[in-house]
Amino acid sequence: MCGIVGITSNKQVTSSIINSLRKLEYRGYDSAGIATLNDGFINEVKCEGRVDTLEKNLSKIKIEGTIGIGHVRWATHGSPSTVNAHPHSSEKVSVVHNGIIENSTILKKYLIKKGHKFKSQTDTEVIVHLITEYLKKNDLKKTILKVLKKLHGSFALGIIFKEQPDLIVGARRGSPLAVGYGPNENYLGSDSYALKSMTNKISYLNDGDFCIVKKDQVEFFDNKGNKVNKKILKLSSNEQDYDKGDYKHFMAKEIEEQPTTIKNCVNEYINKMSGDINIFNFPWKSNEISSIVLIGCGTAYHSCLMAKYWFEQLTNLDVGVDIASEFRYRKNRFKKDALYIFVSQSGETADTFAALDLCNKNNMKTCSVVNVVESSIARESKFVLPIHCGPEVGVASTKAFLGQMLVLYILCLKFAQMRKEIKKNVYMEKIKSLFLLSKLAKKSLETDSKIQSVCSSFTDIKGSMFLGRGYSFPIALEGALKLKELSYVHAEGYPAGEMKHGPLALIEDGLPVVVLAPRDEYYKKTISNMQEVIARGAKVLLITNKSKDEVHSENIWEKIEVENTSEDLLPFLLTIPLQKLAYYSAFKKGYDIDKPRNLAKSVTVE
Ligand code: F6R
Repeated sequence: MCGIVGITSNKQVTSSIINSLRKLEYRGYDSAGIATLNDGFINEVKCEGRVDTLEKNLSKIKIEGTIGIGHVRWATHGSPSTVNAHPHSSEKVSVVHNGIIENSTILKKYLIKKGHKFKSQTDTEVIVHLITEYLKKNDLKKTILKVLKKLHGSFALGIIFKEQPDLIVGARRGSPLAVGYGPNENYLGSDSYALKSMTNKISYLNDGDFCIVKKDQVEFFDNKGNKVNKKILKLSSNEQDYDKGDYKHFMAKEIEEQPTTIKNCVNEYINKMSGDINIFNFPWKSNEISSIVLIGCGTAYHSCLMAKYWFEQLTNLDVGVDIASEFRYRKNRFKKDALYIFVSQSGETADTFAALDLCNKNNMKTCSVVNVVESSIARESKFVLPIHCGPEVGVASTKAFLGQMLVLYILCLKFAQMRKEIKKNVYMEKIKSLFLLSKLAKKSLETDSKIQSVCSSFTDIKGSMFLGRGYSFPIALEGALKLKELSYVHAEGYPAGEMKHGPLALIEDGLPVVVLAPRDEYYKKTISNMQEVIARGAKVLLITNKSKDEVHSENIWEKIEVENTSEDLLPFLLTIPLQKLAYYSAFKKGYDIDKPRNLAKSVTVE
């Protein structure tokens, strides 16, 4: 996590750096800082807290310069504080860093012996002193190559040098980094979004690359110091997607956008007339694939889990699901006939990227389901399926979750059709249901007032449980994750049938329990499990779909009904009230909904 930016220009850069840092705040927001070079001196202003505080400080301590770097931090080494905020500087250099230096303790010992004095508890400061040390005997390029070789772990770096006032060095390993091109100025940034207000011309560094950015020239080098050429990509402008409009929070906007994003995605992938799924240029024949491994983190992992149920239901493929941080370190038996699918909103999640890299290195078939199509995961996978839902700014994933599930569902249908494992009429029914889904999702948004009336029961509580079976189980996990990340209350998602194997002990008088029991093949079983928790005092919020049949259960505290669709699409409709429950609970508590504590949108450290 953390966001970095660098600008070299013929104009003053401070205010542009602040603007970019604001855009990068989704990556980290516990401290912020800026450093510029002016008249042969490095000037630094840093603070604990947000970019707003940094800007206030800058109105008191004015710093000037036509070259500078900035940083928003998500603490890894050392608590969030002014002293640990980036940039970190010596007399000679100033550095901003996103990532983790794993051998910082060893390097620090070596540098202390050489007489370097450390001010912070960060791993980043070793980079500053290492560069300062190597610059004594080497030129700039040699210094960079030597320093990068010494560093273990992950990094995206922006570096300015007292004695080279015309350039910024950028370098990346593991963490993302982009270069932007402007008129008489050039930029460095953690992503294109940070640079979007200044340019739409972008190049991305590959893993191991470094670059020298001057205001009128950019040079790229690989990890051996050989010059490399880079494509300049032109980004489309969709600034309005980054605007909250009349909504109080991006999350509220992104929840409400879901019917539209569903519609766009369905139209993008399916020909309404013929019902054909437009997945072109898929690099492998269906008979070359006999199993699927789905990999992701957090919410993306939940969409993978959901897809397992669909793939197993509609195809004969073997399906495995993995959390990326586990997959990457396990002794995997790679299978030539497997398709490895990586799911990620940002496309920059370090663990998911590492898992993809591992599969690529083992020559596996890799495919990604991403939102950000310029991301590292998209660029490194052999086939990409975008979710077409537009930028997601709120830290808690909402529309991207629905988008990921939708693309995985469509891919599953495509496999079932290619492998002749689905009857034509069943296939066409499912396509028809997909075209109706957007309208039904809109109805799920209408659960608002009910959710607002129940949400106070989810605020000051010891904990809560979210239960579901079958298709509803991954949604229960997702509902619990949303509540805990936004409302900071303990919430646990559980398969309803597992309760009696331990967690039932947690149920006590008044404990809020959300039961997802749509009228599908698991319905009766889930209702029985619901009875078991009600009998032990739980306050049950039942979420089901509309039906003429009453739910045969007494003492349900509250009930929310979503529309009807096919059993396998109900998860889409059940998700929306859970997103709203988390949103309104956090709203009631006055928490920062778009930037929950300790979290960041793009998790670029492992
Ligand atoms: C939860 C959430 C996270 C992300 C996870 C993976 O609301 O947003 O759990 O889903 O960090 O991020 P991506 O999808 O960018 O790989």
